[in-house]
Amino acid sequence: MWRLAEFWNDRIQKDMEVCHGLINPILKDALDMKRSIKEGELPTKHAYTEGEGLLEDTLLGHLVNCTEDAAVIRDEIMNILIAGRDTTASTLTFLVYMLSQHPDVLKRLRAEVLSTVGSSRGPTYDDVREMKYMRAVINETLRLYPSIPFNIRTSTEAVVWPGVNGGPPIYIPPNTRIPFSIILMHRRKDLWGPDADIFDPNRFIDERLKYLTSNPFIFLPFSAGPRICLGQQFAYNEMSFFLVRLLQTFSSITLAEDLQTRPSDRAEGTGRNAQEKVIIQHHVSLYVDGGLWVRMGEAGNSNDV
Ligand code: HEM
Repeated sequence: MWRLAEFWNDRIQKDMEVCHGLINPILKDALDMKRSIKEGELPTKHAYTEGEGLLEDTLLGHLVNCTEDAAVIRDEIMNILIAGRDTTASTLTFLVYMLSQHPDVLKRLRAEVLSTVGSSRGPTYDDVREMKYMRAVINETLRLYPSIPFNIRTSTEAVVWPGVNGGPPIYIPPNTRIPFSIILMHRRKDLWGPDADIFDPNRFIDERLKYLTSNPFIFLPFSAGPRICLGQQFAYNEMSFFLVRLLQTFSSITLAEDLQTRPSDRAEGTGRNAQEKVIIQHHVSLYVDGGLWVRMGEAGNSNDV
């Protein structure tokens, strides 16, 4: 349908001009540099871009070494930026929201950060691997608020699926679009246990882990199979880094209820919806309506938690 909706004008053209305006000069510099290296004007392949490190050590550098087609490189970069930006920002928003609602979780997570990394230096990869509670907090946030809440696949051929909970098998004809909801699956009590509605990172550590180990496909924030998220490990590292730096600097987070856009009548919701203090919306990714507004208490000089 969108072809009809955009018959008279391309509605994203203006936004794309802004994106291209940002990327094009960077891309031009990289292509110019590659040409200079090729023509021997620059002494070595290890020439520096303007203060930004080695050209060949960046994604842009690798792409420039594969092709000189500016449109291809630009689209590849846009693809990674689109896939990696809102998804991570969304998860960080819901992480901060959850920390504002669960001071006990914040306290324990902060204690882990201070005992593993300390109060001033940045985390190493080993630190991130070691912080098991941090991984559990991130996973529990991704379970209740997966930043890609809905997805779709199209069948290439006819297939029969086993029935759900002993129900009749399901016939899927070829070329059939099958939308599915990650967010609803992540909250199902038959898959996650009776407390599925409750935010509790311990479920990724204690005996409730059995739900996941016996049925790994119930947790799909990054999807699965050949098209699984390419940036999964990068995202965990990026989010862990953010949390370490946040909790080294601040020791309390409270929701600014006076500023927050709030659901008008929470009593109407059921399950988690009845508890929410923010309005949750989604387009491709999940977001908080009006942004998330919090107040944070600066950590003192001592390492007390
Ligand atoms: C919390 C953060 C993230 C979440 C929840 C997430 C989630 C997802 C999901 C669900 C998909 C599958 C989409 C599909 O059905 O085809 C996907 C694909 C992808 N993601 Fe992520 N993502 C995250 C962060 C990132 C980051 C940081 C990057 C890059 C730096 C990235 C790059 C990609 C790419 C390139 C694909 C397409 C892979 C393919 O189709 O082969 N993602 N992501």
